[in-house]
Amino acid sequence: MDSLIASPAGAPAPDPIIIANLNLSLGEGAARVHILKDVSLRIGAGEAVGLIGASGSGKSTLLMVMAGLERPDQGEVVVAGVPFNGLGEDELARFRGRHIGIVFQSFHLIPTMTALENVAVPLELAGRADAFARAERELASVGLGERLNQYPAQLSGGEQQRVALARALAPDPAILVADEPTGNLDEATGQQIVELMFRKQRERGMTLVLVTHDASLARRCDRVVRLRSGAIDSSASHRHPTAAVAAP
Ligand SMILES: Nc1ncnc2c1ncn2[C@@H]1O[C@H](COP(=O)(O)OP(=O)(O)OP(=O)(O)O)[C@@H](O)[C@H]1O
Ligand SMILES: [Mg+2]
Repeated sequence: MDSLIASPAGAPAPDPIIIANLNLSLGEGAARVHILKDVSLRIGAGEAVGLIGASGSGKSTLLMVMAGLERPDQGEVVVAGVPFNGLGEDELARFRGRHIGIVFQSFHLIPTMTALENVAVPLELAGRADAFARAERELASVGLGERLNQYPAQLSGGEQQRVALARALAPDPAILVADEPTGNLDEATGQQIVELMFRKQRERGMTLVLVTHDASLARRCDRVVRLRSGAIDSSASHRHPTAAVAAP
C-alpha cells in the first residue's frame, strides 16, 4: 500500500480506485430501485476525475461506494489495493479514515465543536498523538489560522468548507472525494474553494474524484466521467497520461 501514498512521477503504481461490474440497489421491497448498473471504472494515481450527470443519475451513490459508505450488491471495489468486499464495517471505517478524505456539499461539521476540534477530534480518535498540532497546521494551510476557536455558526459558508477540507486533508489521504463541494457557496467563494482543492491535490499528488453540476469545473479535471441513469455514459480524458478509459 505504501507505493500508493506518494508515487513519484513516472513510477508505476496500481490504480488507487478500481470498480468492476458494480451493481447497487437501494430501498426495500416494491420501493427497491436499481441505482448503479454495471459500473466499471479505474482511476489512476494522482488523477483528477470530474463526475457529472443529471440529478438522480447516481453520482453521489457512486462516490459513497468509492468511500466505502455504501456496499454494492454485486461487483468489486478495490481502493488503494484493498478489496472492500473483504473488510468488515470497523475495518472499512478505519481504512476510510486513513486513506480517503471526503468533502460534502453541506460541510457536515459538528456544530458543538470549534474549527480546531472538528479537524483534530477525528485524528485523535484515529489514535494520532499529534492530533491538535496537525489540525492547527492544516487549518493554517487553508487560511484559517486565525479562526481556530470559532464554532461553525460563527464562520461563513466558505470558511466552513475550508474547515471541512482541512478535516478531509488532515490524515494525509491518498484519495480525496468531493460531492458538489461548491454547491452551497456563492460563485466567488466556490471558486476559492475549488482553487484551494486543486492546489492541495497537485501539491500532495492525491487522486481526486469531484462530483459537480458545473461543466467548466469538471473540465478542469484530467477526465470527465458522465453517468446516465446509473450507468457510465461517457468518459473523456483531457490531460492525464495514464487515465484509463472506463469500460463500456
Ligand atoms: N436510500 C435510497 N433508497 C432508494 N432510492 C435512493 C436512495 N438513495 C438514493 N436513491 C435514488 O438513487 C438515485 C441516485 O441518487 P444519487 O443521490 O446518487 O444521485 P445524484 O446523481 O447524486 O443526484 P444529484 O445531482 O441530485 O445529487 C436517485 O434516483 C435517488 O432517488
Ligand atoms: Mg448527489
